Amino acid sequence: MAGGGMSTMEKSKEELKLTRERIVTGDRTTGKLHIGHYVGSLKNRVELQTQYETFVILADVQALTTHFDRPHELIGHVRQVALDYLSVGIDPESATIFVQSLIPEIAELTIYFSMFVPVNALRHNPTIKSEAAERGYTQLYYGFLGYPVSQAADIAFCKATLIPVGADQLPHIEQARKIVRRFNELYKPVLVEPQALVSEVPRLVGLDGHNKMSKSMNNAINLDASREEVAEKMKKAMTDPARIRKEDPGHPDVCPVYDYHKALRNEGSGDIHQSCTAGKIGCVECKQLIADRVNELLEPMRERRKIYESKPRFIDEMLKTGTEKARTVAKETMREVRDALGIRYFE
Ligand code: TRP
Repeated sequence: MAGGGMSTMEKSKEELKLTRERIVTGDRTTGKLHIGHYVGSLKNRVELQTQYETFVILADVQALTTHFDRPHELIGHVRQVALDYLSVGIDPESATIFVQSLIPEIAELTIYFSMFVPVNALRHNPTIKSEAAERGYTQLYYGFLGYPVSQAADIAFCKATLIPVGADQLPHIEQARKIVRRFNELYKPVLVEPQALVSEVPRLVGLDGHNKMSKSMNNAINLDASREEVAEKMKKAMTDPARIRKEDPGHPDVCPVYDYHKALRNEGSGDIHQSCTAGKIGCVECKQLIADRVNELLEPMRERRKIYESKPRFIDEMLKTGTEKARTVAKETMREVRDALGIRYFE
């Protein structure tokens, strides 16, 4: 019977979906994303979404750890990042994109975790330390120090097994593993220990030569940059300071522009390293080549962005649907967590 055959097929497709491993990843929503995000993680996510059941968190509460004095900016940033996701090709049909602050179960789980996380483990977290130093914090805020605990809850609530992240996030994933293990030992083994899936691609350096491209340092090319902006920014990018004339041998390994060539290599640019070292290609031409390459990369994103910009309600609807789905999972996990803790009054 044809009908019967169909339903068996559909069932196995559904089963396949259910047996796929789950990943969760995401971003703090502090503003627009840039090409460093694309190279370091977004590109990877677009590929992974077809192989894994993908959850993507818009970490607006985590954004508050450093932006608590500007909460009114959050909603705009959440929408901006969501639009960036759509523009790079994250597909809401494949990935569940959701808003952290709208899942109160994450906050609840964070509290339970915080009871048994030693403060010293957080104080010694190298990413926390370097972020605090970068921001010039003379004192550590409770929420900032504790954001790895909240991140562990982001991961644990959806029982994700794999967490695709950049290397800077490794201490947080390690912390999440420890928290889950401890929870399971202390109470009941209901949570799943996650594993990091580290992106091989290192972070892009900033246009000013700073070791990372970052919005807060104003040294980034945003994903929504126009052709002109890309060309303009690249023109002003720092290069090897020891190189004054084109004939001078360049040092590509200390040049931010060469870093971009490496990350976004294209056939047409030949061996930049060799021609730079030999003084055969000047910085102007080298920058022109990479600006063209960046524009080539951004062009399809601009097209997609235009489509979604013309449907402003789409993003809110997508976030509502994604958040509802994530919340269903969170409620289920919290039932188990509360049960493990024996917190079940009046039942
Ligand atoms: N801390 C991550 C970052 O800055 C963002 C994030 C929040 C995250 N929650 C997460 C990443 C859970 C992976 C899983 O990039």
